[in-house]
Amino acid sequence: MSSVGVVGLGYVGLPLVKAFVKAGCKVVGFDVDLRKIDKLSHGESYIQHMDSEWLKPSVESGQFMATGDMDRLGETDSVIICVPTPLNASRDPDLTYIENTARSIAKSLRRGQLVVLESTTYPGTTRDVVKPILDASGLKCGTDYYLAFSPEREDPGNRNFVTNSIPKVVGGMDKASLEKAVALYSQVIDKVVPVGSCEVAEAAKILENTYRSVNIAMVNELKLLFMKLGIDIWEVIDAAKTKPFGFQAFYPGPGLGGHCIPIDPFYLTWLARCHEMPTRFIELAGEINTSMPQFVVDRTTDALNSVSKSVRGSKIGILGVAYKKDIDDPRESPSFKLMELLEERGAILSYSDPHIPKIPFMRSFDVQPLSSEPLTSVYLESLDCVIIATDHTAFDYRLIVNKSPLVIDTRNATAQVVKEFAGAAGKVWKA
Ligand SMILES: NC(=O)c1ccc[n+]([C@@H]2O[C@H](COP(=O)([O-])OP(=O)(O)OC[C@H]3O[C@@H](n4cnc5c(N)ncnc54)[C@H](O)[C@@H]3O)[C@@H](O)[C@H]2O)c1
Repeated sequence: MSSVGVVGLGYVGLPLVKAFVKAGCKVVGFDVDLRKIDKLSHGESYIQHMDSEWLKPSVESGQFMATGDMDRLGETDSVIICVPTPLNASRDPDLTYIENTARSIAKSLRRGQLVVLESTTYPGTTRDVVKPILDASGLKCGTDYYLAFSPEREDPGNRNFVTNSIPKVVGGMDKASLEKAVALYSQVIDKVVPVGSCEVAEAAKILENTYRSVNIAMVNELKLLFMKLGIDIWEVIDAAKTKPFGFQAFYPGPGLGGHCIPIDPFYLTWLARCHEMPTRFIELAGEINTSMPQFVVDRTTDALNSVSKSVRGSKIGILGVAYKKDIDDPRESPSFKLMELLEERGAILSYSDPHIPKIPFMRSFDVQPLSSEPLTSVYLESLDCVIIATDHTAFDYRLIVNKSPLVIDTRNATAQVVKEFAGAAGKVWKA
């Protein structure tokens, strides 16, 4: 079994470490966040939906080691890069994490080593950004060292798929690099899908995420139209998805969240701009999706108005600040945009989320560092209104509907309760 280095022990890197550990590989995990290194070195996972069972024995036996010492990057047969790829302040790709990592790898790159980029990025990054940095080591790609791109397809919290069972697309910088990368992943992934180049693999990932963004925008727009027509969009989607071919269900919501869907399509937009080409689908989808929190705030204003209350001075509870159900990841969550908009209008805010005990500091949102309230009758009755922003399984929707004076449901989470509870219809507003 080969030895593997994983750089960036986040939502993508850590499941990958687990897969390689389970396959019997020796794994060294690298990160710049020393708190994560410390926790992992004590055999504790810091990601809620990832168990620690596999960690402790692998740390104790020395099969897995987490470190911040980048000088050790030359120790393993392969190095996989899973660092963040955010947008900068002007919404252009911020490749500094990739560049810094590539520089660290170049310092200790040795003959025979394989480097794979997994971070989501625009087509051309592996060739035009990573390769020149590694080439500066003096080693030659394809003969001395090997370079590939393989996009991560992690879906945090989805119990139907684990790293091993999700087919993995791999593109190599050359034939030898592709062969090495396919051999690496074949140790842990059931189905490896080799493609003709790094660019094809990079573009495939952006296509997947753009496809989601565009389709979510479409149902978000249709939600607004159907609402005006008195038609329930969720019932429509349930009906449409009975078609066994040619249709895939996407659902409306309060806006996009997470590290991928709101960000990745704009990597392609940036590249298209460099080639003087517009990406109208991506821009339009972005426009519609980012307008959703405002729509939810407008519905909340209308709902409060219907009981002679204003947003200013109303106590509003946001239920769920994770960007999707049953996970502990708040990145880019639309709940924070909702909070910003409501706070600007004078609402008195609180939130409840069993997966996020405290709102962390975030660069892109200006929200108070609140702590999660327990979801009790007393809490719900103390509010003027709740907004269901994330449909966590742990929420008791019967309690929410029974005890809250007004419910704004952005996820259709109360549909069943509304059917069963005669008094619910008047106080539950879909949004
Ligand atoms: N989260 C997902 O569901 C998901 C799915 C598919 C693809 N991706 C992509 O995978 C990449 C990583 O995403 P993530 O969600 O795991 O991010 P993350 O923030 O959870 O993890 C990234 C880790 O990299 C570390 N890091 C940053 N700079 C570093 C450096 N120079 N050296 C070593 N470590 C460094 C950070 O401390 C962090 O622990 C991104 O490109 C993202 O778009 C994410």
